[in-house]
Amino acid sequence: MNKAIIKPISKEFNLICEDIAPDKSISHRCAMFSLLSDKPSNISNFLLGEDTLNSLAITAQLGAIVKRNGSNIEIIPPKYLKEPNDVLDCGNAGTGMRLYAGLLSGINGSFVLSGDKYLRNRPMNRVAKPLREIGAKIDGRENGNLAPLCIRGGELKSFRYKSPIDSAQVKSALILAGLRGDSKSYYQENELSRDHTERMLRGMGASINSVDNWIEIEPLTKPLDPLNITVPADPSSGFFFAVASAITPNAKVVIKNVTLNPTRIEAYKILARMGAKIDYIQKDNLYEPIGDIEVSYNGKLHSITVEDNISWLIDELPALSIAMALSNGTSEIKNAKELRVKESDRISSVVSGLNACGVKTIEVEDGYSVIGGDIKYSTINSHGDHRIAMSFAIAGLINGMTIEDIDCIDTSFPNFFNILSQITEVSK
Ligand code: S3P
Repeated sequence: MNKAIIKPISKEFNLICEDIAPDKSISHRCAMFSLLSDKPSNISNFLLGEDTLNSLAITAQLGAIVKRNGSNIEIIPPKYLKEPNDVLDCGNAGTGMRLYAGLLSGINGSFVLSGDKYLRNRPMNRVAKPLREIGAKIDGRENGNLAPLCIRGGELKSFRYKSPIDSAQVKSALILAGLRGDSKSYYQENELSRDHTERMLRGMGASINSVDNWIEIEPLTKPLDPLNITVPADPSSGFFFAVASAITPNAKVVIKNVTLNPTRIEAYKILARMGAKIDYIQKDNLYEPIGDIEVSYNGKLHSITVEDNISWLIDELPALSIAMALSNGTSEIKNAKELRVKESDRISSVVSGLNACGVKTIEVEDGYSVIGGDIKYSTINSHGDHRIAMSFAIAGLINGMTIEDIDCIDTSFPNFFNILSQITEVSK
């Protein structure tokens, strides 16, 4: 079990981050959606993290030829997806497993999706149940809720589905199934969740229309256009350094070429409401808006209550909690029950981690309160959760921190410590 020791920061910094990890959600989708075309897709700046490399390996197991030159990838899709002769290993990735479940439910053949011990304990009925209702044959442990998932793909019916949770993974799985339906399908969510799937598939020529929170999906009548994309930086990965900047006097960070999709930058909006100075400079629009985010220290942060559009900042809540712990008052996170079924139970991991650092918290079923003050040195176990490991590494900028079980960081941000060591001392 590898660990890292982070020393307190000793000076202000001005960091221009050109190498924040490429976006994980978009990279997964590149690997998968390339299979919906009959022509080669070209992807630059693909995330070479464990999660997305697993999705890419599955693409190859399904018959695609994958040519890799560093992070530039060409994917030549097969004419028909191949029935794989082995288990499809999604590693730690809920996105990999849930989206592939939707994609493969409509393909003739037998497919087994599995993953690491954490993923095998995460709920899959949120996708398996609505997919079964439209004819998919999906089984697994605990009445089909836990992986390994066995899928016998075949014909699917169209659907009208109102999702009880705002989840881009559930939405994407159902959209992928809807592309194989026998007529038009409709999907509804309460609040829009991240919409990369709709934007990318529309860009590839699929007929997917959104009206308010309703999405209308036309079945495919022909292969889609290939993807030609440079994956932008991941705002969720950049956010660790945004928090670093917001809590360090006179610090500034520029996160270059990041997606500015509104469903992904809500945590930056919250950090600005807490007092940090944040500017967005849009430079491009490729499937979605892309540009730079500049974050500067602007004095001590104020406490805040976060309760709306939770799906827009769900991945950033652990790092945001570090900012809350250093603010002047009591902050609250509400309506965030989904945190309990992430890579770890993130309500419990954040609260126990903060308590170990001397920060007072109050835990409830769907969130927690953080009483601002100081963050003391402690030893934190990541619980195998990349975002817990990185959040507490940033907390270590104040009084130092030892993080145990850091290998999970490779799932999403393999060069995290390289960037962190530009602003403080890190030893492993
Ligand atoms: C993701 C959706 C979110 C997010 C996850 C990536 C995606 O999960 O937490 O890291 O790429 O669709 P949910 O759909 O469970 O909210």
